[in-house]
Amino acid sequence: MNTERLKKLAAGKAVEEISSGMIVGLGTGSTVQFALEKISEKITKGELKNILCIPSSSNTEKEARRLGIPLTTFNELIITNGELQISNSQFAIGNSQLVIDVTIDGADELTLDHPDPDLSGEGANQINLIKGGGGALLREKILAQTSKKFIVIIDESKLSTKLGSKFPLPVEVVQFAASIEQKYLESLGAKVVRRKNAEGKIYITDEGNYIIDAKFDGIDNPKALAELLNSRAGIVEHGLFIGMTSKLICAMNNGDLRIDNC
Ligand code: A5P
Repeated sequence: MNTERLKKLAAGKAVEEISSGMIVGLGTGSTVQFALEKISEKITKGELKNILCIPSSSNTEKEARRLGIPLTTFNELIITNGELQISNSQFAIGNSQLVIDVTIDGADELTLDHPDPDLSGEGANQINLIKGGGGALLREKILAQTSKKFIVIIDESKLSTKLGSKFPLPVEVVQFAASIEQKYLESLGAKVVRRKNAEGKIYITDEGNYIIDAKFDGIDNPKALAELLNSRAGIVEHGLFIGMTSKLICAMNNGDLRIDNC
């Protein structure tokens, strides 16, 4: 089966998880495009009613508008529904931040059953991703972290045994610090490239930052790298999505669907 048909297959299966009345997160990319088309079709047929969607990029927003998919924003939702409930403990906000019922998104590279060094025994395995090929990693991660269910849809070509061996890690940095963050990533062993757009100009994200694509030729410990990058001022976000996936729908080359719940 060709790649486009595989993407469509995975996307169609994921859209089955959306019910009327849900708040839905919309990822970015060519696989998600098929999900947008399916959502639009179901709305037109009256099979999906009263859903509201939050897009992860200006591209997805434009496409969703074109397809007649109703959109909202976090700010609109919170104003409509009142203040977020903060739990008693000082910092824990519990599940009150999970305002999205389900988000559907793609990935650039994915490992299954990568052992989490902090866990042992049952439940030790998780799905880790590299995302950000489309430049939307920051908003995508915000959607993922505020979703009750984060569904990742891929075709088999995205499966990997070691993150970073197939795809460079996108790192979003503030413009002010771009050169020094580039040096920092090099000091970690990466070969780096400042991302450019189709016209050859420096790529600027929806949030006004630059992206450095960092090629590590295989990341030995993605969780440790994610934590290191999280702690670095100047780095706004990176494309490592560690253990955030609740469900994987992978269309295999033979047309079968591999589904993993986490
Ligand atoms: C967008 O920033 C990315 O995270 C996409 O989800 C990823 O690039 C997958 O895109 P495709 O479905 O086009 O491969």
